[in-house]
Amino acid sequence: MKDYKRIINRKDVPAHIAIIMDGNGRWAKKKSLPRSEGHRRGAEIIEPLMDAAIDLGIRIVSLYAFSTENWSRPSTEILSLWKLLDHFFNAKLDSIKSKGIRVEHSGILKRLPALSIQAIRNAVKETRENRTLVLNFCLNYGGRQDIVQAVNRWLERRGTGEKMTMRKLERHLFTAGLPSVDLVIRTGGEYRVSNFLVWQIAYAELFFTDVLWPDFRPAHLYQAIYEYQQRERRFGGL
Ligand code: FPP
Repeated sequence: MKDYKRIINRKDVPAHIAIIMDGNGRWAKKKSLPRSEGHRRGAEIIEPLMDAAIDLGIRIVSLYAFSTENWSRPSTEILSLWKLLDHFFNAKLDSIKSKGIRVEHSGILKRLPALSIQAIRNAVKETRENRTLVLNFCLNYGGRQDIVQAVNRWLERRGTGEKMTMRKLERHLFTAGLPSVDLVIRTGGEYRVSNFLVWQIAYAELFFTDVLWPDFRPAHLYQAIYEYQQRERRFGGL
């Protein structure tokens, strides 16, 4: 593989990258391991990737860790994902803190096990002063649901005759305060966006790779950023 890190223009890195971490199950199957082992390896690679992102000056990374559609998986697999989340924060929170990472979350936490809610809320609280990189965990997240809940929250405080605007809608999305996504990365060889941040990715560049998520390395991230930099972003203009 080319040394993409060397040829990346560090003055033009995407501010906000959104990642669809797909392929954990297939990675495990290929190795005759349980699917949960694929997820475990998938969680392990997050920190080195964040180190690479920080080094490049990326400001926000949103991770699709659990979608509203993932509830249809077997309950044992769902449980293993929540346990993994708890373990992740138990094991990594100190290091996340020391790197200046601010943890955020998008999605409806209510349906998660109490321990997982506590783990994520605690991580948000403990890292809220950090400024190096926002790591946004999308949990029980659906892009369409995000838009509907934003409208409903706005309706609750709407003044008489007041109209909705794009700005107002954005202020009520789970990602309020974060800029739109510049680059979507999807691993695992599928070419779709699967209800991920659908409003926020309106003008994002899309990078798809066949690499399965547990095999995704900083070198692949550099490649995605390099390819992003070769695209001409016109935002509908000429
Ligand atoms: C998709 O792979 C992946 C998920 C549904 C879960 C993603 C979660 C992680 C990478 C771990 C999250 C870690 C933390 C700390 C929250 P798949 O299972 O659909 O793979 P397949 O398409 O090969 O079956």
